[in-house]
Amino acid sequence: MVRLTDLPQSPGAATGLALAARPLPARTQGPRRELVAPDDELLGPQEPTPASGERACDLAKFHIPEVVFGPGALAELGHAARRVGARQPFLVTDPGIIEAGWVAEAQGHLRLAGLSPVTWHGVTPNPKDHEVTDAYVHYVESGADVIVAVGGGSCIDAAKGVAILASNGGTILGYAGVDKVVQPIPPLVMAPSTSGTGADVSQFAVITDTTEHTKITIISRTLVPEISIVDPRLLITMPDELNAATGLDALTHAIESFTSRAHNPLTDQHALHSARLITEHLLETMLRPRAAAPRTAMAQAALQAGMAFTNAILGITHAMSHQVGGLLDIPHGVLNGVLLPHAIRFNAAVEPQRYVPIAAAIGIDTANGRPGAEVADELAAHVRQLADTVGVPRGLSKLGVSEADIPTLARNTLKDACLATNPREADVAEVEALLRRAM
Ligand SMILES: [Fe+2]
Repeated sequence: MVRLTDLPQSPGAATGLALAARPLPARTQGPRRELVAPDDELLGPQEPTPASGERACDLAKFHIPEVVFGPGALAELGHAARRVGARQPFLVTDPGIIEAGWVAEAQGHLRLAGLSPVTWHGVTPNPKDHEVTDAYVHYVESGADVIVAVGGGSCIDAAKGVAILASNGGTILGYAGVDKVVQPIPPLVMAPSTSGTGADVSQFAVITDTTEHTKITIISRTLVPEISIVDPRLLITMPDELNAATGLDALTHAIESFTSRAHNPLTDQHALHSARLITEHLLETMLRPRAAAPRTAMAQAALQAGMAFTNAILGITHAMSHQVGGLLDIPHGVLNGVLLPHAIRFNAAVEPQRYVPIAAAIGIDTANGRPGAEVADELAAHVRQLADTVGVPRGLSKLGVSEADIPTLARNTLKDACLATNPREADVAEVEALLRRAM
């Protein structure tokens, strides 16, 4: 399995995963003790030594793109691309976004800014390794420069894949894991069309390995886009199922980043606020798809959950759902909706208290010292109820997973980078048991 000691431990390790290298339970961020006097006052200037740099992994780090947010933000796309050096941007998208009319508007904004966009629309849900290769070939042949994505997480991840190959060469599957992308990549400008994946702000790209029928996770600071254009208007053309799935994905990002071993006070606030916004507004967006306030709230929720998880990383829900999604091409957020309640109960069996603030944020009664285990159990039930309400099946078997798949899924879960920051260690037998409970 992936262990914390396998992850970058160097001073200031780029991904922030080094921040997870600390004993359980979750740490409380605070000043380094050698810089605090016995009376709890911070010390003044110190003589720099090599040891001061080596302790940089104790610090909270927070890396996000420039964000342009609000209804109408798509009009900034051309200026944004120009600001990062575009003349001929490569626009990655899919047929559904074209049909919805957003690509025509995006192309118009790019042209108004004096740019000559090249469009590639060969992305499918759960983007495949060969799609990234095809897009990269088209990118090179077209002579394009800055990479723009207009679409959901699949388009954004495929765009990141093109950017990786453009400056690092090789094949996309060769970059699975942490900090394997070493060369700087072309600038990325992203405009998300779903309220969930957070790919527009994250250092993650998830690509399907079509040979092994699994998903690889690529994590590198260099994958954080330069600019994210978040226009809630783009959300109104999402089908209901996609809205539900991506909303549950965002909720999973909020909860897993809050309980991650690499969380810090800067990520916590975004995670808590995101969870509250999703609980209050996801259903409303399904009842009134064009209403401005709930759509804007969900756009903010997805953004804040993304800002939290790209810095705090995730946990066992994502480590498992990546494997099931690679095997069966099921929407990522649907899998998270099924798996998250089970993961909460699994983690809370060892450390329930961390779930109390997040339960309070979504309106669960946590007053009068109510036991953490009870609160966490109600949180798990609340997530399941939300999944029921938006139409997510109750178990993995209903999604096509069979008992025979479980050993392989569990083995691959242990290799997923997201497992390293889960608050509870898990071995293959425990993951198998967890998957069986989710059947
Ligand atoms: Fe996710």
